[in-house]
Amino acid sequence: MAGTDTATSVRYRSFAEVETRGYSPLYDAWCMGVSGDGELLALLDTLPPARRQPVLFLGAARFVGVPLGDYAAFRSFVLDSWDAIRSVMETRATQTNEAGRCAVLLPSLAAISADEGRPLALVEVGASAGACLYPDRYAYSYSPGPSLQPPGGSPVPPLDCTVAGPVPVPSSLPEVVWRAGIDLNPLDAGDDDDVRWLEALVWPEHRFRAERLRAALGVVRAEPPLLIRGDLNEQVLPLVARAPADAVVVVFHSAVLAYLDREGRDRFRDTMIRLTADRERPVHWLSHEGYGTLAGVPDAMEKAPGEEDGRFVLQHNGVTIARTGPHGQSIEWL
Ligand SMILES: C[S@@+](CC[C@H](N)C(=O)[O-])C[C@H]1O[C@@H](n2cnc3c(N)ncnc32)[C@H](O)[C@@H]1O
Repeated sequence: MAGTDTATSVRYRSFAEVETRGYSPLYDAWCMGVSGDGELLALLDTLPPARRQPVLFLGAARFVGVPLGDYAAFRSFVLDSWDAIRSVMETRATQTNEAGRCAVLLPSLAAISADEGRPLALVEVGASAGACLYPDRYAYSYSPGPSLQPPGGSPVPPLDCTVAGPVPVPSSLPEVVWRAGIDLNPLDAGDDDDVRWLEALVWPEHRFRAERLRAALGVVRAEPPLLIRGDLNEQVLPLVARAPADAVVVVFHSAVLAYLDREGRDRFRDTMIRLTADRERPVHWLSHEGYGTLAGVPDAMEKAPGEEDGRFVLQHNGVTIARTGPHGQSIEWL
């Protein structure tokens, strides 16, 4: 079909086939529709390539109010509302904040605190609104395995996580005495537009994730973390230096390094290797990222051929310890 054999068309078809199929029938149908729709592709191609990404487009359409209907209804809404959608795509970025990821970080966080005999000071780089900075405030349901909850319970529905291998699920939650984050654009859990944007980034069928997000943002609002605006490579050292001396510092990140170029990732990796080896105050480093985003760490995460299955890789101080569901829904200890 004329006008639909473009890079943007291929990108949307591939996104539908690889990312959404089986997870979001609606996004699958919409993205397949876009990939064969010369008029919509031409509109998307008026944006710079980095801003044509499906997740940004779908989130922007949802933010502006697209009805959750068939492709014809989607298409007609987009054509009518293109100026508003475009403006969101030009000013917002994909910043999905998923508290569920705490379920795969928790075993390592608890083990670090127990081994060091001290409470935790958490530094999250690429924190979005900071919902992952509250692992001590959520309830967990590991399967098979125990359920855990903070004293007094949690306002957030339990984070479900399927377990495989010898995952060291703790018997109680670690104490967190300090939490701080860095983001290029910190989102404000108390700002209605930021909350609406975070909600628009949750895929439509994932209603439990939307519910969890709303509840987790309530936790953030009740006790806001220190969130620093800036580049993680510029801000991580000064922020680590601000952590209280009587706590063990854990620097962590989840679904962030894909946004950095090779040079930025290498610089961050080198900083973290130095920080973990610091004689005076070694920090712990937890990396939860897609395959291949942190190549070059000894023993780390280049994938073997055929290994890619959409799961993330969890590393502690540069050593791969687990594979995980990208939203924290599963963990396989290696
Ligand atoms: C997909 S979100 C993940 C948020 C959170 N880590 C989570 O797992 O829910 C990625 C975040 O990284 C931030 N980010 C990307 N590049 C960054 C950089 N160079 N410095 C600081 N933050 C960055 C983005 O703004 C975004 O909020």
